[in-house]
Amino acid sequence: METKIFSTNEIKEAAEAINAGKLVAFPTETVYGLGADATNETAVKQVYAAKGRPSDNPLIVHVSSVTMVEQYAAEIPDQARALMAKFWPGSLTIILKIKPGSLSKTVTGGLTTAAFRFPACQPTLDLISTAGVPLVGPSANTSGKPSPTTAQHVYHDLNGKIAGILDNGPTKVGVESTVLDLSTDQPVILRPGAVTKADIEAVIGSIELNHRKVKANEIPKAPGMKYKHYAPNAQVYVVDPATDWQMVSEWVAKQPEQVGIMAKNSTLKTTKFPANAVLFSIGDDIKSATHLLFDGLREFDNQPAIKIILAQGFVATGLGAAYMNRLNKSAGGCHFDFKA
Ligand code: TXA
Ligand code: MG
Repeated sequence: METKIFSTNEIKEAAEAINAGKLVAFPTETVYGLGADATNETAVKQVYAAKGRPSDNPLIVHVSSVTMVEQYAAEIPDQARALMAKFWPGSLTIILKIKPGSLSKTVTGGLTTAAFRFPACQPTLDLISTAGVPLVGPSANTSGKPSPTTAQHVYHDLNGKIAGILDNGPTKVGVESTVLDLSTDQPVILRPGAVTKADIEAVIGSIELNHRKVKANEIPKAPGMKYKHYAPNAQVYVVDPATDWQMVSEWVAKQPEQVGIMAKNSTLKTTKFPANAVLFSIGDDIKSATHLLFDGLREFDNQPAIKIILAQGFVATGLGAAYMNRLNKSAGGCHFDFKA
């Protein structure tokens, strides 16, 4: 199967493919998703197969209206309504209890809850409305690899495995949505994203942030937390914010292999790197760094001579919490802290 690239003028064709039970990757403001009709069990099963995703990791249900959520959610609590009013369309995914049997076990991983998301991306909202069904949409990458932020990333991982990709250019945010669990008494952030803890607290008051890694034999609260994530072929090390980059540069010079460096413009300008350093700029600030993180990791994946990647860390507050969460996972916890 050759994967077709749909332009944003071909929403009707893409929707027809979805209605025929085929898989079509779609853009969002965060990352590209691997779309299938959420009400078609056979199609949803194929999503897991195409990604190589473990089947106990539930999928987000993407909607184009709050009415669509009402079809499946047992109830929409006031806090959820307030958050939807403030942040939808946008990068906040909300977990709610569902009406028993309203969504298949394949979507929910057998849980009594489901994750709902209303993405801020008009072509995809049009795709959902035209198809007339919600779309499941895990990130459209091979499981374990960095999430895709361009149609080319999706094509690289899934060409031949899916019917099409709706191409809307590079995504804006660069990391996946904030996942907030509102299915229990205490709201908790299971995955940090562009809608920050402070943004949410301004609407519903104090909440918890819980995105620790769980052990393999534990039943995780967000099942996605227990798997290896965002890992390129090279070993990633997080360079802690207080690190002296001159010392990093001296360390790189002693390595026999090429070393990939992902750092801010200011770091790249003020540090003299040796010849075996391959440089990738993540721009001037945390917003740009978040936007370019997965792109940089994938860029280095195309260069097999690079065995080590050193990536600049940021303070883990606000959007920095989302960036550091993804970066720490891609590094599997490996750090560099060369202090001056
Ligand atoms: O930005 C995004 O959220 C992207 C775009 C495509 O919308 N999607 C995405 O989906 O990141 P995925 O499947 O890669 O991540 C969904 C996360 C996983 O960690 C999953 O375990 C968790 O949400 N999740 C889904 N349903 C859940 C539920 N009912 N309870 C707890 N966690 C859930
Ligand atoms: Mg993912």
